[in-house]
Amino acid sequence: MSKDALELIEKVGLLPLVNVSDPDAAIQIAQALSDGGIDVVEVPLRNATALESLSAIRRAFPNLLIGAGTVINGAQALSAIEAGADFVVAPGLNPETVKACQSKGVAIIPGATTATEIEQGIALGLDVFKFFPADVCGGLKAINALRGPFANVRFVPTGGVSFDNMAPYAESKAVLAVGGSFITPKDAIAKKDWSAITAAAQRAVDASLGFTMGHVGINCQNVEEANDAAAKFSRMFRFGQREIDISFFAGSAVEAMKKPSFGANGHIAIACNSMKRAIYHLERRGYEFRFFKNNDAGEMIAAYVTDEIGGFAIHLCVKYKS
Ligand code: 3PG
Repeated sequence: MSKDALELIEKVGLLPLVNVSDPDAAIQIAQALSDGGIDVVEVPLRNATALESLSAIRRAFPNLLIGAGTVINGAQALSAIEAGADFVVAPGLNPETVKACQSKGVAIIPGATTATEIEQGIALGLDVFKFFPADVCGGLKAINALRGPFANVRFVPTGGVSFDNMAPYAESKAVLAVGGSFITPKDAIAKKDWSAITAAAQRAVDASLGFTMGHVGINCQNVEEANDAAAKFSRMFRFGQREIDISFFAGSAVEAMKKPSFGANGHIAIACNSMKRAIYHLERRGYEFRFFKNNDAGEMIAAYVTDEIGGFAIHLCVKYKS
């Protein structure tokens, strides 16, 4: 369960806070988030009824992934797990909290924003940390600097994250998921405007996915034709040309295939922030995938949707960074 929880948080890419004192409202918010594409919630233990809200969500949605947040000691962690928490989030790194969760096989995301705290967390067997308060602690600049010595560590930035500043976090490979209360706006909760929370969830999912035009793929008949096609685009637009095993790229815009591939007319690639995240959300919307391609490092570089549109195969790719 411990690994599964982190895996699902990574796929969803978001960790919304459900911070209310009314358990019925907590249920409505969880439903609204799920309607908007987010099946993970964090209930911070910041009021007397927080554990009640957590249990209420647990009973109403047995399949939702529910975390307890703002857990600052081992006893609180155990009560949260008893109340039905699938994972625990802490603002800081308290070994007692970490060990309590580990003793129950429950995932723990403790706060760590310095090299010292991360080293302590690694010594406890962890590789995912809450980066809190994210913007105050240096934001993505600090996260990227910490990835130098800690290449395998990933972060959940929270605290001050908003629709205005979430995009660079969502694009970063160092970020497992983006967290915060901006996905459950206070004014919507006050007005019991659950559809506004669904809309915020959808907006956050869209920002987290970051779908944008990737490239157009041309089905050429052979290597010479492909090289020639890519060269023409490269000359016209001064795109750099690069060759990979199956094709030539002109910049990031055009891929000329060395032999006919998927799609009667070729393919259209839609770029995203994270293949795992994009596949998860598209599958959740009912789309199926028929073919996946990894590079030599084992990273997925293409995922073909089963449906074609207008004679074009559609595949996901990761955003091109020159
Ligand atoms: C947390 O506990 O994760 C933070 O308080 C969330 O911060 P935010 O309200 O600024 O999103």
